[in-house]
Amino acid sequence: MRVLGFESSCDETGVALVELPAPGETGVPRLLAQALHSQISMHQAYGGVVPELASRDHIRRVLPLSREVLSQAQLGLQDIDVIAYTEGPGLAGALLVGAGVAVSLAAALGKPAVGVHHLEGHLLSPFLSADPPEFPFVALLVSGGHTQLMRVDEVGQYEILGETIDDAAGEAFDKSAKLLGLPYPGGPHLSKLAEQGRADAFELPRPLLHSGKPDFSFAGLKTAVLTQLKKLGEAPTETQRADLAASTQAAIVEVLVKKSLMALKDTGLKRLVVAGGVGANASLRAQLNAACAKRGVRVHYPELSLCTDNGAMIAMAAAMRLQRGMARLSHAGGFGVRPR
Ligand code: KG4
Ligand code: ZN
Repeated sequence: MRVLGFESSCDETGVALVELPAPGETGVPRLLAQALHSQISMHQAYGGVVPELASRDHIRRVLPLSREVLSQAQLGLQDIDVIAYTEGPGLAGALLVGAGVAVSLAAALGKPAVGVHHLEGHLLSPFLSADPPEFPFVALLVSGGHTQLMRVDEVGQYEILGETIDDAAGEAFDKSAKLLGLPYPGGPHLSKLAEQGRADAFELPRPLLHSGKPDFSFAGLKTAVLTQLKKLGEAPTETQRADLAASTQAAIVEVLVKKSLMALKDTGLKRLVVAGGVGANASLRAQLNAACAKRGVRVHYPELSLCTDNGAMIAMAAAMRLQRGMARLSHAGGFGVRPR
């Protein structure tokens, strides 16, 4: 069985094809082909995603990307069994493009469509890696819109252990980066600038670090970064900017690492899965790897290219649900989107 998946919740148009193991065989579904178009350069001039531009660009890209995927796999539409799409959360207009194309295609082919929760896509994306995790595990989901720690016992069995009470970790990266005059999306740019800076140069808050619960709060961090920037005056030097970037990254990473360790300790689990865009951060990976190695915990990440939004994770999440007989299959009628 082959699943064609569409992702269009924000500023990436992703299409991918995943194949389930043959009936009677076990194992993880296999990625056959994928194509992705990032709209980042289009939104950069505005300092963030412009929803209307995002929707229009998804419309332009989605069919050429679909053709590319089928051609990579040397397959035709008749070889697809199920069409999956991101149902939400995300930008309403952007979601409608992927959902509209997926459901229309499914109806035209007489095949079922499956709506996928975007965060479940991120959460299951490490199963696309060469070394997939085993259940159960603790998941640290760190994206532009969400920051959550979860206990994951199986597909669909998720217990939220803690989450952010305000900004997400990716948002903290992006907002601080914007204050530092870096382009959108700020996370990777701030991380690059931080390589040249000293992480202990500025004292920045670690909100809720000692709350005793695996919860997060990042809204105060950008205010602290702004306060430090104001103190530096009109034209901070390159070194000062790099120091502030490194200190900001250190504050975010320290909280993410400490809270992940707390969740691991509380659940007694020895496996951690990190997913979402911030999971691409090199400093977070290095510190989690070091802390987890000391405690005998295995850490799993998605491939770097699959940390941010993509179609493969959506096709994969649908395939893993199908494999377990849990997908909500619908023929045309059951078409929905769940905006943020
Ligand atoms: O998962 P994602 O693509 O989109 C959402 O579902 O939100 O995550 C995007 C977020 C952005 O905030 C971006 O700045 C952040 O992930 N990000 C990073 C890095 N790469 C992406 N943050 C820190 N370091 C990175 N290397
Ligand atoms: Zn995402």
